[in-house]
Amino acid sequence: MSVAKKEYKRITTKTLVDMKKKGEKISMLTAYDFTMAKIVDSAGIDVILVGDSASNVMAGHETTLPITLDQMIYHAASVVRAIQRSLVVVDLPFGSYQSDPKEALRSAIRIMKESGAHAVKLEGGKEIKESIKRILNAGIPVMGHLGLTPQSIYKFGTYTVRAKEDEEAEKLKEDALLLEKAGCFAVVLEKVPAKLAKEVAESLTIPIIGIGAGNGVDGQVLVTHDMIGMTHEFHPRFLRRYLDLYSEMTGAFQRYSDDVKSGDFPNDSEQY
Ligand code: KIV
Repeated sequence: MSVAKKEYKRITTKTLVDMKKKGEKISMLTAYDFTMAKIVDSAGIDVILVGDSASNVMAGHETTLPITLDQMIYHAASVVRAIQRSLVVVDLPFGSYQSDPKEALRSAIRIMKESGAHAVKLEGGKEIKESIKRILNAGIPVMGHLGLTPQSIYKFGTYTVRAKEDEEAEKLKEDALLLEKAGCFAVVLEKVPAKLAKEVAESLTIPIIGIGAGNGVDGQVLVTHDMIGMTHEFHPRFLRRYLDLYSEMTGAFQRYSDDVKSGDFPNDSEQY
């Protein structure tokens, strides 16, 4: 059992800030359904992200843009029903917060009320500052997300590393500070140089959770289906695969099919 699992019965946003103070790293994984969330929670993962990566992983879309607020709420409510210890953070999907702060608040309220989740995550810095403030003023905890922000993929044009040039790195540092000052309890930094991510983590008091942002940050997040190898066509450098479930599952399905077709399944002890 992990050290954190023994020490913290229930993870809150305050727990995460305290963990950073004590130099304890934070573990975060995605989940979009009850069964996966139950396993992730019981393994002692600190934060479960109901990411809009559900758009890719669950629905097979090429980007995160198509997923709707109703669909995110459905996934989030399924996850919340499974958890006992993890903090559940839910992505506000593309189109549910960018047009104005009132709409952003309405979307965040729907997520909290209809799913029972504990916090929301929004992509962006200065340009969404007023929306973040309005959500925070309503008492809803906010996690920021900077660096490679997949909802802006058509602006970036590519999924390569962000903030390699000074100008973008400076803007990222300013945005991270702005998110902390606004009251965010943590920030995800996606696919940025490790040196820059470490600098940001050291300059803020709120936790920085990295994905492709090196080891100098306060915690790590991965998409669960990638790290357990259920997906197998995605090979970014930052991804460590802990299982090869694609092969395991394909093998199991093939053996089942063979057993059905040969008449071996069900056998005498598998029937009434
Ligand atoms: O949607 C998601 O899964 C995310 C993580 C990649 C951080 O935002």
